[in-house]
This record gives sequence, C-alpha cells and structure tokens, in this order.
Amino acid sequence: MRSATLELNQADRFASPKPANFDRLARVYRWLEWFTFGPILWQCRCVYLDEMKSRKAALVIGDGDGRFTAELLKRNQRIAVDAVDASNAMLRQLKQQAGHNASRVHVHLADVRQVNLAPCKFDLIATHFLLDCLTTVEVESLARRLKDAMTFDAIWIVSEFAIPDNWYGHLIARPLVTGLYIAFGFLTGLSIRELPRHREALQTAGFVLTKQQKRMWGLLVSELWESSPIANSRSIPKVFKD
Ligand SMILES: C[S@@+](CC[C@H](N)C(=O)[O-])C[C@H]1O[C@@H](n2cnc3c(N)ncnc32)[C@H](O)[C@@H]1O
Repeated sequence: MRSATLELNQADRFASPKPANFDRLARVYRWLEWFTFGPILWQCRCVYLDEMKSRKAALVIGDGDGRFTAELLKRNQRIAVDAVDASNAMLRQLKQQAGHNASRVHVHLADVRQVNLAPCKFDLIATHFLLDCLTTVEVESLARRLKDAMTFDAIWIVSEFAIPDNWYGHLIARPLVTGLYIAFGFLTGLSIRELPRHREALQTAGFVLTKQQKRMWGLLVSELWESSPIANSRSIPKVFKD
C-alpha cells in the first residue's frame, strides 16, 4: 500500500465489523452478473465514461474484478488509478484485466471504512455497486473523507441499486434486492440487509447530484456527484427522486 495516498486508520481498525469477503467470487463474478442482469450493470458503469476522459487521478473503490478500471484506462491514456478493495482475489483480477495498462494502477488491499486518503488528490472517484455493502452512516463517513481527498473540480460516479417509491418498487424491486442481499450474505458473509440511503448521506456530506440515469424502471441508477462548494449554474441541485 502506498502510504502517501492511503493509510490504514489504526484507531478504527476494529471499529467496524469485518467487510464481506468476495474472494471466492472473483473468478465467477462476471458470469454471475451476466446470468442475472445481462449487460445492464455494465451499461450502468459506462454511462459517464465521456466525462472521465480528461481526468488524471482516479480513486476506484470496490471495482471487483476490474472490468470498469480496465475500460477507464483504455479510454483515458493519461489517467492513473488507485484501486481500493477488501478482496485480494478481486484486486489480482483487476490488475490482470488492466493488461498493458497495469503500470498505471496502484492497488490497495484495504477496508475503505478504515483508510485515510491523501488530501486534494483525486479528480475522479468511482464506486460501482460498492455503497450497497455499507450502512448509511458508513457511506456518510466515507463521503466526508472522499470530499477532502478530491480536487475542487472532481466528480464522483456512483452506480447503485434503488427501490422506487411506487408499486413496482414495493412488489418487484424490494423483494429482488432482498433476495440479492440474502444470496450475497450467504456467499460472502455480507451482514448488510438493506440499501443505505446513499443520496441522503452524500448530500449531508456536501455533495450535489448533477446527473442521473435510471435503468430497469429505477431499480438501477447511475449518478454523477460533485462537491457542493463548486456548484454553479451547470450543477444546480435538482430534486432526484427514486
Ligand atoms: C458487490 S461487489 C461490486 C463489484 C463491482 N464494482 C461491480 O460494479 O459489480 C463489491 C466490491 O466491493 C468490495 N468491498 C466491499 N466492502 C468493502 C469495503 N468495506 N472496503 C473495500 N472494498 C469493499 C468487494 O470486495 C467487492 O469487490
């Protein structure tokens, strides 16, 4: 782990329960995804790739087997990526996926709830289907630390599950998300059983949601967040509802 960028917060070492262990899913993760959601999760991750083309320093957290990181490195030949994951096997896959661009990736085996980040370093943060492994309180705490680690013009790309507040949400999305949590609880030991209120957490930590796309009638969301002090006419906070 490069201490200039990230360091383990010793005081918090035992504060949170152990993170889920995704090691044994590392090789099969992409096939599990394909059989359940086909290409849709991949489409969610790629929505804002154009906005990432001019970025120079990315922090990618919980990218799993690294397909998104590999695509980012391919599309942006100048970017350097710090990748944090609690799973060693996932990080190995991520390095492998990066291929000849692997020299621009620095991997950090760490629980993101327990790392201190270098100040004002990153102009891009990406968390695809990571926040759903955390509680609302943990998302808010992470967001506050990320805010300090971001440059003034940084963007934070979030892909997540959501439960729309309508009949579809109650009858279809909620049981589906509950089923996914039960499956991942069994496979990885994940103890979380409900989605964090990530929008509330990010807003409380000082971020504004500037873009959003939904898929599967709102079950999946791709979002672009910015730090609120730089909010301008282009990024006036809007009310985004599920
Ligand atoms: C559900 S998978 C998502 C993988 C990928 N980003 C995607 O889009 O499908 C969650 C990933 O986050 C990692 N993860 C979960 N909790 C974590 C934590 N507290 N700290 C760091 N990584 C964590 C897991 O090891 C796994 O690689």
